[in-house]
Amino acid sequence: MPEVEKDLDTTPEDLESLDELGEVEELDETEEEDEPSSGVLSASLNPFKTSIFPVLIIDKKLKIVYANPACENLFTGFFDLSGNYFIDVFGRAFEMEDIKKIRETIISGDNGFSWKGAAQIKSRNVASVQTRVYLFPLEMDIKSPGEFVVMFDDVTEENKHLLRAVFLSLLEASKLKDNDTGKHISRVNFYSKRLAEELFKIGDITYKRIDADFIDNIGFLASMHDVGKIGTPDDILNKEGPLSDWEWTVMREHTKNGAFILSTYPNPMAKEIALSHHEKWNGSGYPFQLDGQMIPLAARIVTIADVYDALRMERSYKPALSHEVTEKKILEGKGTHFDPSLVDVFMKISGDFRQIYDSNKD
Ligand SMILES: [Fe+2]
Ligand SMILES: [Fe+2]
Repeated sequence: MPEVEKDLDTTPEDLESLDELGEVEELDETEEEDEPSSGVLSASLNPFKTSIFPVLIIDKKLKIVYANPACENLFTGFFDLSGNYFIDVFGRAFEMEDIKKIRETIISGDNGFSWKGAAQIKSRNVASVQTRVYLFPLEMDIKSPGEFVVMFDDVTEENKHLLRAVFLSLLEASKLKDNDTGKHISRVNFYSKRLAEELFKIGDITYKRIDADFIDNIGFLASMHDVGKIGTPDDILNKEGPLSDWEWTVMREHTKNGAFILSTYPNPMAKEIALSHHEKWNGSGYPFQLDGQMIPLAARIVTIADVYDALRMERSYKPALSHEVTEKKILEGKGTHFDPSLVDVFMKISGDFRQIYDSNKD
């Protein structure tokens, strides 16, 4: 998202374009306030008061004069809306080009003073909201409108659903081949999300990348860690005895195949998890022998989640281990296999890992 100058009067580029339109004085804040005092305005607002669509009313200086309850509700945790300038509040949510268009539309009346576009609103504590945005005059008579409606259509869930549905189909396809169960995949999502939530709570500078979006994304993308096994030959994937060196070489390719499959996912976390969930903190993992912090954080989190669950499960070549024994094994891998500070956090919340396993058994 581009950085947007916050002060209406200090964006040289924008002032230039407004100058060209000969309307720069319209934005002079020293002019008298024109409050939405008339009864006409309040009557025009009535239809929006109960609308399910989030609606803001802004005046021609782009000052927010009204936000309906649906709007207050949508942006809870993001902004303080009332009495602020639209661009001060939403500037970062739009592309710079769109900000210019909004101002030009209001000033020049292009397209009947109406505009439509999109915004992405982000904060650290609340997962991002994606909306379509419609701007149009409040009054029917649009010769010189005083107020404008900004209507938001929240498409966050719709977009997320469409995107994830495509990749869930790939995951389903890979599950047909892999002997890992569907429950393993869901549990790895749950453990990874729980670890990320705890790191967010700790708020250490090392984990400043973790925000509400990171937590939401890892809670879905962790399940994709072995999607690359779709490219592993069945006789290697389902072999009962130990794998030969050559078979191991082929098996390890599932990390690169997964990264390839997920390379079009619009968040690099997907690729990072698939590619690096078998790397080890001391550099003895695969495929690239990355070490320490060079291993992406999301992959380091999923590594602990995946190993914990693999140890707890019964497989044809090994018995199921108890929570206590598994916990001990994770602790033994601190600083060699696993990121030591993540192991500390795991130990703090390992009771939750046990609970996730117990309540999502195969
Ligand atoms: Fe794997
Ligand atoms: Fe796994």
